[in-house]
Amino acid sequence: MENLDYIQYLIIVSLFLSVLYLIIKLRKIHLYLYDIKSSFFRELSLTFDQTQCLHALYLDLNFEKSFPKTRLWAGSPDFLMTLKELIEENKPMIIVECSSGVSTIIIAKTLKILGCGHVYSLEHNLDYKVKTDEQLHRHDLCDWATVIHAPLKDYFIEDEAWLWYDIDEIGTRQIDMLVIDGPPATINKLARFPAYPLLSNNFSAEIKIILDDANRVGEQEIVKSWREKTSLDVESKFCEKGCIVLSPVTSA
Ligand SMILES: C[S@@+](CC[C@H](N)C(=O)[O-])C[C@H]1O[C@@H](n2cnc3c(N)ncnc32)[C@H](O)[C@@H]1O
Repeated sequence: MENLDYIQYLIIVSLFLSVLYLIIKLRKIHLYLYDIKSSFFRELSLTFDQTQCLHALYLDLNFEKSFPKTRLWAGSPDFLMTLKELIEENKPMIIVECSSGVSTIIIAKTLKILGCGHVYSLEHNLDYKVKTDEQLHRHDLCDWATVIHAPLKDYFIEDEAWLWYDIDEIGTRQIDMLVIDGPPATINKLARFPAYPLLSNNFSAEIKIILDDANRVGEQEIVKSWREKTSLDVESKFCEKGCIVLSPVTSA
């Protein structure tokens, strides 16, 4: 009799534990599905925004042929649209770009439509330089852009070693706009930091510095360290990877 009680007790406990286990599992599945649903709608809305920007770029810049793929390694359509608008607004004569690709095509096409200016794009990888040159040729933009093969080389900035583009070919050119989308962050920590210390002597009074991927912690650290040494105004542009526009503080 006592044995039977014990068995009943065991059955009840194991039933209770099984139900508890099922409830916990179901709760996890519920939360997981909720996450999937909300990230799906977020991604859908983001992708729709990017598609609208892509369409607007084709229309506003009168492209008759397709330009290279955007997003992932390349600039996202919202960043490219921001570049186009900043160029139209500021009409820079000399733009230096760190890393070539679809961004070079969009910049050169905007300059061609404006009828003034030139972009010099620093590209460390010869294969990508050749690809961008082919695209410039395909879009009849060779008069508006020059891709400089600029292998990465060692620099010492305040006693610290950095790898950055060889900028010999930039020479003494006065830069009105600097677009920073390279070198890739995988090359070294804070890979884009040298842009300001190495090129600031070339900046014109109207310089605009445009930094892509500004949502990344590394890029925010870079902006912070530049601003510790120089007074720079910061403007954030709403782009999927983040975009920051820096310009010298103007006295009122
Ligand atoms: C972040 S990408 C920027 C490309 C460019 N600004 C654009 O909007 O297309 C930086 C560098 O990565 C390299 N790169 C470009 N596409 C790549 C790919 N699909 N895989 C690996 N490296 C790539 C090129 O050397 C390029 O200069």
